[in-house]
Amino acid sequence: MPILNETIESIDARRSVRFYDSKPVDDEVLLQLLESANRAPSGFNLQPWYFVVVRDDDLRLKLRAAAMDQRQVTEAPVVVVFVADPECWKEQYDRVLELSRKSGALPEEVCRFYRKNVDLLFRTGPFGLFGFLKKFGIPLRRLLKPTPSAITSPTDARNYVKAQTMLSAATFMIAARSFGLDTSPMEGFDESRVRRILKIPASMSVPVMIALGYADQSEQAERSARIPLSEKVRINLFPEEEQKFPLS
Ligand SMILES: Cc1cc2nc3c(=O)[nH]c(=O)nc-3n(C[C@H](O)[C@H](O)[C@H](O)COP(=O)(O)O)c2cc1C
Repeated sequence: MPILNETIESIDARRSVRFYDSKPVDDEVLLQLLESANRAPSGFNLQPWYFVVVRDDDLRLKLRAAAMDQRQVTEAPVVVVFVADPECWKEQYDRVLELSRKSGALPEEVCRFYRKNVDLLFRTGPFGLFGFLKKFGIPLRRLLKPTPSAITSPTDARNYVKAQTMLSAATFMIAARSFGLDTSPMEGFDESRVRRILKIPASMSVPVMIALGYADQSEQAERSARIPLSEKVRINLFPEEEQKFPLS
């Protein structure tokens, strides 16, 4: 028997909806969804995301053209474009630490530790020299002690902040479902065109946009399929010959 609570029910009921009716999304609800997305976890609490809320009809028409003409972009009353900032580790992170210090969330020495490690993680130095050093130095260091991966190029930095921003997108979709709203995540779009339409700085990336609204009940799709959990969970070690889930 599945164990249910309201959060699990929202996770379970979420699906990608591509047909919407015209019912608008309440401002207060939308604000709460954005608050929830902003509460998502991120590495070092970097919070690299921005949320561009697009309700304007003309802009959504332009976005639809940049998104391979996907109908949900104009059918849903709201599209939230998730933006990830690879520069989040600079001044913005000083603000995160200052707020953390002031609220008592982090003691001073932890803030200093985070600042140092975030610099080490992101810094690539003039002409990428420090990045180059990290690229070759990290595998060498690993021969002596466990060493995590670090950012060695602008592409690494973009990928890192994209991954963090996706967590806020997932949180947003589950929160939306908890209010009876439906969503459609999309990465099928031309990122540079979307940046241009919404005046998003070129230094930032756009990992996903999410259409938000109420499903058109006459066009309900089947629930999407999943590979059974028993094939996805391994106990203790990855090779599956030993034990399967659930344990007998
Ligand atoms: C990062 C991401 C990008 C996606 N991009 C698109 C997209 O561009 N267009 C689309 O119709 N669906 C898109 N989807 C939806 C997936 O097809 C969908 O999540 C998957 O088939 C599972 O269905 P479900 O979301 O209803 O459970 C995307 C989903 C994710 C997570």
